Amino acid sequence: MTNSQLKELLSDMSLSEKAEQLVQLHGRFFGNNDVITGQEMEFIVPEETALRTGSVLSYHGAGKIRELQDRIMSGQPHKIPAVFMTDIIHGYKTIFPAPIAQGASFNPELTKKLSEAAAKEAAAAGVHVTFSPMVDLSRDARWGRCYESTGEDPWLNARFAENAVWGYQGKDIKEKGRLAACVKHFAGYGAVLSGRDYNVTELSERTFMDDYLVPYKAAVEAGVKLVMTAFNTVDRIPCSINKKLMRDILRDGMCFNGVLISDYAAIAEAVSHGAAGDYAEAAEKAMLAGVDIDMVSQCYINNLVPLVENGIIPEELVDEAVMRILILKNELGLFENPYKDGSEEDEKTIILCDEHKKLSRDAANESIVLLKNDGLLPLKAKGKKIAVIGSLADSKKIIGAWSLFAEKSHIITLKSAFDELYPDAEITYVLSDNICEEAVSTAKNADTVIAVLGEDDSFTGESASRADITLPKGQTELFNALYEANENICTVLYGGRPLVITEIAEKSKAVVMAWFPGTCGNYSIADIIFGKVNPSGRLSMSFPYSAGQLPVSYGRFNTGRPKDDSVKHFVQFVSNYLDVPNLPLYHFGYGLSYTEYEYSKVTLDKDVLNRGGSITASVTVKNKGSMDGMEAVQLYIRDKSASVVRPLRELRGLEKVHLSAGEEKTVSFIITEEMLRFYDINMEYKSEDGGFTLWIGPDCMTDNSEEFILTAD
Ligand code: BGC
Repeated sequence: MTNSQLKELLSDMSLSEKAEQLVQLHGRFFGNNDVITGQEMEFIVPEETALRTGSVLSYHGAGKIRELQDRIMSGQPHKIPAVFMTDIIHGYKTIFPAPIAQGASFNPELTKKLSEAAAKEAAAAGVHVTFSPMVDLSRDARWGRCYESTGEDPWLNARFAENAVWGYQGKDIKEKGRLAACVKHFAGYGAVLSGRDYNVTELSERTFMDDYLVPYKAAVEAGVKLVMTAFNTVDRIPCSINKKLMRDILRDGMCFNGVLISDYAAIAEAVSHGAAGDYAEAAEKAMLAGVDIDMVSQCYINNLVPLVENGIIPEELVDEAVMRILILKNELGLFENPYKDGSEEDEKTIILCDEHKKLSRDAANESIVLLKNDGLLPLKAKGKKIAVIGSLADSKKIIGAWSLFAEKSHIITLKSAFDELYPDAEITYVLSDNICEEAVSTAKNADTVIAVLGEDDSFTGESASRADITLPKGQTELFNALYEANENICTVLYGGRPLVITEIAEKSKAVVMAWFPGTCGNYSIADIIFGKVNPSGRLSMSFPYSAGQLPVSYGRFNTGRPKDDSVKHFVQFVSNYLDVPNLPLYHFGYGLSYTEYEYSKVTLDKDVLNRGGSITASVTVKNKGSMDGMEAVQLYIRDKSASVVRPLRELRGLEKVHLSAGEEKTVSFIITEEMLRFYDINMEYKSEDGGFTLWIGPDCMTDNSEEFILTAD
């Protein structure tokens, strides 16, 4: 349809028809019993009202959507197709490594490929919009939703955000196999106080703008079609009714002109927050804030018409919102083909195809992080007795809570991966977390113990925050019993968050962080353990030494009384703890491999950066070992003195390079003035002349540095 045809359509719609376009009903109204994540509201609407909804949440399957779309369109005065939106977070039926694991790949282009594959599967199943990427900065591992994000760093999350959008949407969302993406949750959700889900946030405006907003902005600049609001407050105003956030920052500041949807019942929750007296007031405030779609609450459907008729909100606001939805539907091509790519034939060939399964394995190869290795790994597949202990070794509950549509029968467990790939290995399994005689004697009789521990799906995701983020109940005791029997332990950890594993890591000879590795990701764990794959994952979220350090991230500040990081003991009257170090156990960017990379000293082509000009910073990286590998070369910068204090280091560049054994490559980064901008003392986004330090190395603690200054031309 042309724009003028859309306008004509809008002008012909009644007010109630318009209000219906702004409502999203859950698939359960139409017989779908998928997950319900919000408060159950008094949501009893007759079928004919339900059928007039503008969009449907969590409904999938080409045949089912086709049938429902027909019903919806025939009930609509203007036969407007519904848009079907659902959470395709890290895959539809082929599940890829969880976002936190993708972050650990330190390879944002990988996420583009995974998002592309996820889009193909979901589009074949009739879905039009995915509620992904989730780009909230995660600096508090107690928060269960850190699993849905790519980590703690604004710049890195921004790179993942844009790649996810490009992957889902391609050049044109009308193309076959594309979805419209929805970046979420706007904004600052990752900063919920104490890591407790749905809690409020307390962020300075500068931290919010400088750090938290960066990845959302990248998604908007990448052309994301939708934005979802967040459950939390920002500056004590719930996001879903926060006019400053939505109109001033998102729409005017970031120039976002797509569809803004509330999170699940989040408009109604303004009443629980105490920021609206009733649902009518919540609807009024959300509309004024520019929220187009009310996800599953009845605020809009029950109140928009009277609010307009009583002159409380102008009809133009409703028109604007409806127009944005009509434009989205038009861009998806739904007016010409309301089913888009939904096809039962394609579902059979695309979903869970070999190519996607291979992708899930390749992605896990890059996402798994080797945290410790005292020479234990890789293991020889023959001639040694191995004890694999722990219930997760044969569990399928290791793919992450948002794998709503996963095809369980296709998930490879670690045991099945070992059995299939390494049939000659002498492995004895004890598939239980209980400290039993069998576990202890098996460990004692083995040359090496593989303790398979960590969190299953139920420990992370929405509404799954933990105050104690050590291993789940009983696992530490099991580990200690195994350790008593045999000190040759490799610990494999599943989970969606950095865990506090200080004692376990100390005692283990090797630690492998597997995250939630996806449908075929357990093959990768097996291949890493037996040395077929050289691990290259890096932490995109710090592993705290103790939960008392949280929130913790490498982008810290020096303070007026800094502690010298090399000093291990407590020092009076400097910024440190009596009982634990300041630094996390494992820092951002950290991860081991089976080879050794040697970095040359960083060089600059000049040490003065003129505004408008650039500096090239380079290193040569050599693979000195005997195994091919991939190295994530990282660039960090510090602004040494500015009108406001600046973080000690900020990631500003990344290149993941493949290096064959013995090979060396020069990696260069171009430094420009734009990379040095921040919100200054007057909240202006600009850089300031002066001195900077730059580092290039394998992680955020590298000391391979150079100095430069920024000056006017
Ligand atoms: C979550 C969102 C999700 C939505 C729809 C909410 O509870 O916070 O991330 O997209 O439900 O399922």
